[in-house]
Amino acid sequence: MIELTAVTKQFAGKNQVTALDRVDLKIAKGELVSIVGTSGSGKSTLLNLIGGLDRQTSGEIHIDGQNLTGISDDDLTRIRRDKIGFIFQFFNLLPTLNCLENVALPLHLRGWPRQKAHQRAQELLDLVQLGKRVEHQPDELSGGERQRVAIARALSIYPPIVLADEPTGNLDTRTGAEILRLIHDLRDRLGATVLVVTHDSKVAESCQRTVTLSDGRVVNDLRR
Ligand SMILES: Nc1ncnc2c1ncn2[C@@H]1O[C@H](COP(=O)(O)OP(=O)(O)OP(=O)(O)O)[C@@H](O)[C@H]1O
Ligand SMILES: [Mg+2]
Repeated sequence: MIELTAVTKQFAGKNQVTALDRVDLKIAKGELVSIVGTSGSGKSTLLNLIGGLDRQTSGEIHIDGQNLTGISDDDLTRIRRDKIGFIFQFFNLLPTLNCLENVALPLHLRGWPRQKAHQRAQELLDLVQLGKRVEHQPDELSGGERQRVAIARALSIYPPIVLADEPTGNLDTRTGAEILRLIHDLRDRLGATVLVVTHDSKVAESCQRTVTLSDGRVVNDLRR
């Protein structure tokens, strides 16, 4: 499903940084994997490369059998739109859109008619128990509610791959635990492959597999 072979990512600048250093990683369909490691170890870089938000310096990345290496920017955007659901630490909701519109946005971008997109968005907001908040703007919601909207948005296209970068990092412990339960539940229901970057050992341990990065390398790959 996801396969990285000798993937290296360097950032040029005053001081060149090797954010990922010859990473080999295979993730099977339906796996739920946590990615841990100290700040700066390369976790976000790894997610961004898998999600097609950035490109590796060398090595190969295959998603669903498709080689991302050397494909055009348009093709990369298409893969991202069709296959990947992103969940970020700071939610990244559009402040001028209400909940329903935020969740429907990825569907509009795929050319869904308005009514059908809104219907799906409503179903997903029901699923994350925000069916009664559809007309609220993001700034009228609590942090945990915003993250639930962001999760509903990430799932709107039923992506085969969900990438979450510290989805509970900005929430209190109890709300974080709820979000975590939701991610588990949705993965079970949708059968998606899920990668969760986290600093929270409880979140990490709740996953069947934990990959540890250090200085851009995989230093541990634990299966429970
Ligand atoms: N756009 C960039 N330009 C230059 N260096 C970068 C860039 N993005 C990341 N880096 C560097 O690459 C390394 C890995 O960064 P990355 O964001 O992947 O770390 P991380 O493991 O997600 O850390 P954190 O837990 O703090 O989010 C860091 O040393 C960082 O400074
Ligand atoms: Mg990060």
